[in-house]
Amino acid sequence: MTTAAAKAPAVTKEQAEAIYSKGLEGIIAGETAVCSIEQGGLWYRGYEIHDLAQNATFEEVAFLLLEGHKPSSSELARFKAELVSERALPGVVTNFIESMGGNLASGRAVPMDILRSCVSILGHVDPDSQSNEAAAGLRKSKRLLAKIPTMIGHMQNVIDGKAIIGRERGGDESLDMAANLLYMMTGSKPAKEYARVVDVSLILYAEHDFNASTFTSRCIAGTLSDMHGAVAGGIAALKGPLHGGANEMAMEMLKEIMKDCGEGAIGTKAVDDWMQKAFDTKRKLMGFGHRVYKNGDHRAPILHKLGKAVAEKDTKNPGGHAAIKWFLLGEQVQKIMLEKKNIHPNVDFPCGMTYFTMGIPVPQYTPIFVASRVTGWCAHIMEQHANNRIIRPLSKYTGEAPRKW
Ligand code: CMC
Repeated sequence: MTTAAAKAPAVTKEQAEAIYSKGLEGIIAGETAVCSIEQGGLWYRGYEIHDLAQNATFEEVAFLLLEGHKPSSSELARFKAELVSERALPGVVTNFIESMGGNLASGRAVPMDILRSCVSILGHVDPDSQSNEAAAGLRKSKRLLAKIPTMIGHMQNVIDGKAIIGRERGGDESLDMAANLLYMMTGSKPAKEYARVVDVSLILYAEHDFNASTFTSRCIAGTLSDMHGAVAGGIAALKGPLHGGANEMAMEMLKEIMKDCGEGAIGTKAVDDWMQKAFDTKRKLMGFGHRVYKNGDHRAPILHKLGKAVAEKDTKNPGGHAAIKWFLLGEQVQKIMLEKKNIHPNVDFPCGMTYFTMGIPVPQYTPIFVASRVTGWCAHIMEQHANNRIIRPLSKYTGEAPRKW
């Protein structure tokens, strides 16, 4: 019997070692038609982010990402109606959220973890949960997109000890997603300009090629596992403060600076001194830096401008603080970071200030990021399932040399 010659690996160990880069920096790890990122721009399926932020709505962008093209008006109307009809949560999910009231109040559970579990539970009752067919993937994506804001709204009601708003229908069907999310969280229909700022933030957060959470979702989908599992994995990755969790941490940092330096210190050397101490102790400043963008995140100035405009008009936010002070402090912090470290803010920095001045509770900032990024994750999961090869890189071994037991 002849034995076949051993197959040579497509990439030799020497070649792999030559391109090794810690944290996969600069490595192309797959193909996508969903989004492209360059130092000079960000495009969703070929549409530039400033164009989308100015001229599109979040629902249009979600359609673009999930269905692959710009919607016609009839396609958009059909898509929005589908989302509205899918907003209500199954009883098992609502019951779970209600059962977590005590854990949320004590801080043992945080909204991102509850949201991750809600997505898992939703998978147990979704009629398409075990199918990776394209049509099933699209149906599940729409259900997730429609239901995640309802999970956030219900969770906030439980945290606030209020009756659940919109339990039967998932809010108010006359409202688009951003406005409905704010309505479900607070019980009041938001002013148009507040709803539009949140809508734009959702557009900006929707997609960002192979970021850590999307890559996590693609790794899970690449084993031919299911969409709900891949989205739950994406939520776990997004929670971290180096990724989506930075929008909450950026605001916490600003609150800390304000507390340590005092309100009167905005624009004075006290803030410079606070920052210098942070640099001296090698503290990571949240909402700054980016793996890909070294000359600034294209999304950050868009949100900063909109958030600041709302804050300027509104001298008192729902928490009773003059809103604009947070932007004035934030701008000083940005200036110091740029001058001393040459590091620009990323989208999470203006997001923190914007949501805070609108009175949105800080622990819901990253869940709101999920309500948007689920479109990107689902688009990538469907793309991975449609043209799959398992994602299985190598590692650089740094342990002991082979030895006898
Ligand atoms: N504060 C202080 N120093 C920083 C920061 C920061 N935010 N970001 C980068 N640096 C330093 C970093 O320590 C390194 O210094 P050194 O060479 O002395 O070790 C240098 O700048 C270069 O860092 P890098 O290689 O560009 O960083 P990275 O690509 O490994 O990490 C990052 C990127 C986003 C994780 C990092 O910038 C960071 O931790 N930022 C704070 C968290 C954050 O805002 N995350 C949100 C990311 S973007 C949107 C999102 O995903 O939600």
